[in-house]
Amino acid sequence: MTLITPYYLINERKLLKNLKKIKYVRDVSGAKSVLALKCFSTWSVFDIMKKYMDGTTSSSLYETRLGREKFGKEVHAYSVAFSKEDIKEINKYADKIIFNSISQLKMFHKDVGNMEIGLRINPGISYSHFDLADPARKYSRLGTTSKKSVREAAHIISGAMFHFNCENKDFKNFSSTLDLIGRNYGDILKNLDWVSLGGGLYFTKEDYPLDSFCKKLKQFSDKFQLQVYLEPGETSITQSAELVTKVLDIVHNEIDIAIVDASIEAHMLDLLIYRTNAKIEAAGNGKHKYIVAGRSCLAGDVFGTYSFSSRLKVGSIIRISDAAGYTMVKKNWFNGLPMPSIVVKRLNGNLDIVKCFSYKDFKNSLS
Ligand SMILES: Cc1ncc(COP(=O)(O)O)c(C=O)c1O
Repeated sequence: MTLITPYYLINERKLLKNLKKIKYVRDVSGAKSVLALKCFSTWSVFDIMKKYMDGTTSSSLYETRLGREKFGKEVHAYSVAFSKEDIKEINKYADKIIFNSISQLKMFHKDVGNMEIGLRINPGISYSHFDLADPARKYSRLGTTSKKSVREAAHIISGAMFHFNCENKDFKNFSSTLDLIGRNYGDILKNLDWVSLGGGLYFTKEDYPLDSFCKKLKQFSDKFQLQVYLEPGETSITQSAELVTKVLDIVHNEIDIAIVDASIEAHMLDLLIYRTNAKIEAAGNGKHKYIVAGRSCLAGDVFGTYSFSSRLKVGSIIRISDAAGYTMVKKNWFNGLPMPSIVVKRLNGNLDIVKCFSYKDFKNSLS
């Protein structure tokens, strides 16, 4: 089968490595994991994911609905701000609803039907390398900061969510922060049934002390008699996909620049937002240095600078790794560029082209 670049290639075997660790954490610590759909919503691989995870969590009505329709199991609904109409619809899909603020909780708690109610708490501490993604940044609107208000609302809620990490692979940091949350919110936690510790914990990374992590989670859940949830996004799918691109042109401006048939702005937007370089495993310390750049008109549409062991030429294939999280959910039609198709390499080695996009999709996304 000839695959036409660009395409995202999800490898189920690599995905499985993460999923097995997630299930291990569940088995040993009792902490359930719900997939954060904001990071990854490619439902063609949900059949495998749902064997190892407990459900989904969402950031909007549409994600909540997708979670119910395509993943099943437990469906958690969260939003920075729900509308009245959202609540009506979400009632059909979710088991738990988590409000972001005391005002939303007060506004809507009588309309939530059978859903269990949670409240997001901003503990005022966080771990993030990026101010942009720091949930406890100054003036953060993410979660309530007033302990007094949480106490006053305690009779309405059965759970709480603390999302306070972003790309945290430092177990010691997590452990001491969890202790602090226990100390600061213990009286509230004792009266709840469940707590979500959010996402941003890189516990599927190589060398992460998984057993210490499990022990910590179990201690926390035993101490406060709570069901603990984790909301892994990136952690679930890290290193399981590539964006496969092809060199279309090589130009020279003091340095060789290889222009590929994809774009960071359109297809790997977080690289642009966080100003980080793409990972290209094939590039190392070779003699042939190139800037690899995207084909959009944005001057800064650059994947990074790499040293390849052999010369690139028009037609060379460049595989950008770690391309599953916050890519397919954020891709856009900027410049009318062809949108990468989505290909899944199944456990048995078969390649399934699960989605192709065409000019019609571009046209229909506008009017
Ligand atoms: C509330 C919440 N849960 C879970 C996640 C997933 O985080 P990650 O993809 O870093 O694991 C996020 C990410 O922003 C989040 O805001």
